[in-house]
Amino acid sequence: MIREMTAEEVPLAARIIRRAFATVAEEFGLTRENYPTHPSFLTEERLLGEIARGLHLFILEEDGSPACMVGLRRLEDGTTALERLAVLPEHRHRGCGVRLVEFVCRQEVLYWTEGADTDGYDLETIQSIYRSTDPLSKFSFIIEYEQQPIGECWLQRMNLPYLLQQFPDRDCRRIDLMIGEKDYWNRGIGTTVISLLTRFGFEEENADAIFGVIFDFNHRSRRAFEKNGFQLFEIVPTPGEPKSKADYVLMHTREQNVERKAHADNQ
Ligand SMILES: CC(C)(COP(=O)(O)OP(=O)(O)OC[C@H]1O[C@@H](n2cnc3c(N)ncnc32)[C@H](O)[C@@H]1OP(=O)(O)O)[C@@H](O)C(=O)NCCC(=O)NCCS
Repeated sequence: MIREMTAEEVPLAARIIRRAFATVAEEFGLTRENYPTHPSFLTEERLLGEIARGLHLFILEEDGSPACMVGLRRLEDGTTALERLAVLPEHRHRGCGVRLVEFVCRQEVLYWTEGADTDGYDLETIQSIYRSTDPLSKFSFIIEYEQQPIGECWLQRMNLPYLLQQFPDRDCRRIDLMIGEKDYWNRGIGTTVISLLTRFGFEEENADAIFGVIFDFNHRSRRAFEKNGFQLFEIVPTPGEPKSKADYVLMHTREQNVERKAHADNQ
């Protein structure tokens, strides 16, 4: 089982890190005197300080016992650092470190798209999400790159009451997308997907306005929408959502799209 560790488990986490790194300290003759900051001498206070500065700890347990753990820290530039990867000596060479890192990388994708209470979906939930897709209100697509599925995207009717109230007589849609393989981020794929869905929305579906609803910290997504002519419409506070203080609502209207196309044609 893999899960995020709780604040009460800091003593356990510090113990795992110390035990895992003790073999390294022994091999290289490291002591409190010659290398006091080595992880094999990590204190709970120090680990608490790292958690206060944004480190999230994940643990993998085998048969109910801790086997390994890793820390994840999101950096200012939108990238993520994995720190403190520690596999207990008796659990080494069995692939648990790889399993844990793969899990944390998947969590990382969820972080940008899902609410704070979601740490993944089982098959049944995923099936219910896609099987409930009503072709008249939602279109969902797989994003493929070189014949490999790497993500998914949606064009659906607006489902947020606060936006519907503001545009009662207009056909409003929203675009949601997720490239699930991080290696494919920042290569222009998301921008292309938004462009295709926008075209589909206006030209085939006759939408009046299309929106993107984005966590305040997701600058990458915001930029990909802006590159397609979407503009900030409003910032909606999200009290109670621990990850994000607000949703950035970006909008592109039919009129703006016509103007944008005319401008592109004249270039
Ligand atoms: C968001 C996502 C769809 C964007 O797709 P992508 O293919 O990675 O994005 P693109 O490469 O097309 O464009 C990203 C742009 O953001 C810029 N960017 C990247 N990180 C940034 C940051 N931290 N701050 C500002 N801009 C950033 C890139 O430089 C690029 O702009 P440029 O072409 O002008 O240089 C994709 O990264 C993803 O699936 N992320 C995880 C899930 C998610 O966030 N979904 C969106 C929920 S609203």
